[in-house]
Amino acid sequence: MKALVYHGPGNKSWEEKEKPVIQKATDAIVRITKTTICGTDLHILKGDVPEVTDGRTLGHEGVGIIEETGEFVTKFRKGDHVLISCITSCAVCDYCRKGMYSHCENGGWILGHLIDGTQAEYVRIPYADTSMYKIPENSDEEALVMLSDILPTGYECGVLNGKISPGDTVAIVGAGPVGLAALLTAQFYSPSMVIMIDPDDNRLSVSRKMGATHTINNKNEMAVEKVFKLTDNKGVDAVIEAVGIQATFELCQSLVAPGGRIANVGVHGKSVELHLETLWGKNITITTRLVDTISTPMLMKTVQSGKLNSKQLITHRFKLFEIVEAYNCFEQASKEKTLKVILSNN
Ligand SMILES: NC(=O)c1ccc[n+]([C@@H]2O[C@H](COP(=O)([O-])OP(=O)(O)OC[C@H]3O[C@@H](n4cnc5c(N)ncnc54)[C@H](O)[C@@H]3O)[C@@H](O)[C@H]2O)c1
Ligand SMILES: [Zn+2]
Ligand SMILES: [Zn+2]
Repeated sequence: MKALVYHGPGNKSWEEKEKPVIQKATDAIVRITKTTICGTDLHILKGDVPEVTDGRTLGHEGVGIIEETGEFVTKFRKGDHVLISCITSCAVCDYCRKGMYSHCENGGWILGHLIDGTQAEYVRIPYADTSMYKIPENSDEEALVMLSDILPTGYECGVLNGKISPGDTVAIVGAGPVGLAALLTAQFYSPSMVIMIDPDDNRLSVSRKMGATHTINNKNEMAVEKVFKLTDNKGVDAVIEAVGIQATFELCQSLVAPGGRIANVGVHGKSVELHLETLWGKNITITTRLVDTISTPMLMKTVQSGKLNSKQLITHRFKLFEIVEAYNCFEQASKEKTLKVILSNN
């Protein structure tokens, strides 16, 4: 089979690789029909995730068709259409029992990280029964690819941790796929205001189409002043950090209102400054989270019912064998106006 293989920082290739086989009775082999590329894959290619070693197939998102199941797999049979979760869950360890699949002692984020991932014609999924979801017939499978990672991430790490409630004022710093996923799912709770902040005008215009009430280009405008003007000089009840750099985490600290929440979603490669000299008495909460994907079944229902239009996040489509070209398009997101790309293996 063919797979997109990582060969150290800056090196990847679409190459021939052994087809995966069942290793444990709880495994399944899935033929990938649609997959995508994540910002995290770009982090890996930059060398920011050193646990990823030479020879690893990348990718942790996708949908496919069950090809083979181990003898302990009970939920799926050959031919079933499945959604693969970016987080593998054994369902029985202490963390899984608490619903914190991200810290599963036998799984967690392993696909395209510690084991071969989904940017390939076939993938082996451990703990198949509890790490995939059956896709009902006549579903729009492209729309469901957005549920492998970015929608649960925006929702769990941003919206749930930010405790967004009816009437809240919300700011989301970063209008990439994850920030936009938070924007879409924040609207489940009817906030009175959602302000998107990003230096990319195209992403701000997309944000307005997806329901943002206000947008701020913080390359050209003073974000803090503008947010205070919009909120009667209070700041926002919830601010979601969806970038992962010092500057944006500091911006969040300046935007939060007394009693508010800062929900960090961004992956930080460097330490950030925490301004306790101004925040100590503001009664705020700061949260962090690695996505658990515990909300995936709920999100799937909202996509199926048409309540959540996850397909809006897809901007480009390629064949799976054109994946290197798709990476170029994804890397040049600002120039190509890319959000998510879909790679199809038909
Ligand atoms: N916590 C988790 O479990 C989890 C899961 C998936 C992704 N992530 C992280 O979420 C973050 C966002 O992911 P993404 O795929 O949307 O990334 P992305 O790179 O596509 O989007 C980031 C956005 O931030 C904007 N930005 C850059 N500098 C800015 C600044 N100074 N002020 C405001 N905006 C700025 C960019 O223009 C871009 O639109 C990344 O750090 C990613 O690694 C976290
Ligand atoms: Zn991802
Ligand atoms: Zn577990």
